[in-house]
Amino acid sequence: MSLGPLQLKNPVLCASGTFGTGQEYIDYVNLSRLGAIVSKTVTLEPRLGNPPPRLAESSFGLLNSIGLPGPGVDAFIAEDLPLLRSCGTLAIVSIAGQKTTEFGELARRISAEEGIAAVEVNISCPNIEGGGCFFSDDVDAASGATRAARTHTALPLFVKLSPLVTDIVEIATSVLDAGADGLTIANSFPALSVDWQGRKPRLGNITGGLSGPAIKPITLRLVWLVAEKTRAPIMASGGIMTADDVLEYMVVGATACQIGTANFLDPQVSIKILQDLQNILAREGIDDINSIIGTLKEK
Ligand SMILES: Cc1cc2nc3c(=O)[nH]c(=O)nc-3n(C[C@H](O)[C@H](O)[C@H](O)COP(=O)(O)O)c2cc1C
Repeated sequence: MSLGPLQLKNPVLCASGTFGTGQEYIDYVNLSRLGAIVSKTVTLEPRLGNPPPRLAESSFGLLNSIGLPGPGVDAFIAEDLPLLRSCGTLAIVSIAGQKTTEFGELARRISAEEGIAAVEVNISCPNIEGGGCFFSDDVDAASGATRAARTHTALPLFVKLSPLVTDIVEIATSVLDAGADGLTIANSFPALSVDWQGRKPRLGNITGGLSGPAIKPITLRLVWLVAEKTRAPIMASGGIMTADDVLEYMVVGATACQIGTANFLDPQVSIKILQDLQNILAREGIDDINSIIGTLKEK
């Protein structure tokens, strides 16, 4: 199936930051069956990430404040990329910068390497030149980061949007105009978990991102809004736990789906979703999964 310029063998992918380089799952999952693996977000310099605790469970969801820890792009290329490339499926590399120019530099460095199928630009990170606001929150910052990456890569380029913005269609349109081939909708939702007896937040960073089933109906609406208005190739990300979730996202306009938090509940969930998808399509007499995309009847 076609996701913009990218050819996928199926629509089931694993989301950034929830699947490592794939190697962590190699004993449980036949990685070559996946549509693609999106790497953890790579930054230019090494980062320690946020103080612990970094995870807190909530009803129907998970809060995380990982803070993009990692060895930086040089060590990623030397140590992690060979593992990611050897998974037998497409490797999509997620990048994030602290300044607009860093998105360009990261795209350039990643594109110089063999065996990378696409770049996903994670703009849900602070812009230190913009007073610490997230790139994802502002049309100019979001489109600037996208343009910087686009200028330095010929690889298919996807921009991962934040779900918590005033007008997601405006941000989506601006990054597409800046050269993105498609979109990932969306990242986790800013959230807070509190231990009231201790009078303290459960996360070391105080706030974090909410993911999992709790966010699915909200992200579903965002995918629908953006798909209707832009017709862009979309990867959905938000609370996908089952094959029915994948089909819901496809009906509202997504072409592919990224499995995130569900991997922590069941490392084999992506393969189970793929099998269930095949069974459901056979049951419903649907020969071509592409025929589902954007078929929501609004009346
Ligand atoms: C522990 C954890 C780490 C994550 N790390 C990243 C990351 O490095 N880059 C990124 O773009 N998204 C990251 N995400 C967001 C996921 O890729 C995904 O977009 C989000 O969790 C929503 O999908 P889900 O509800 O299926 O988990 C992370 C999520 C979790 C739970």
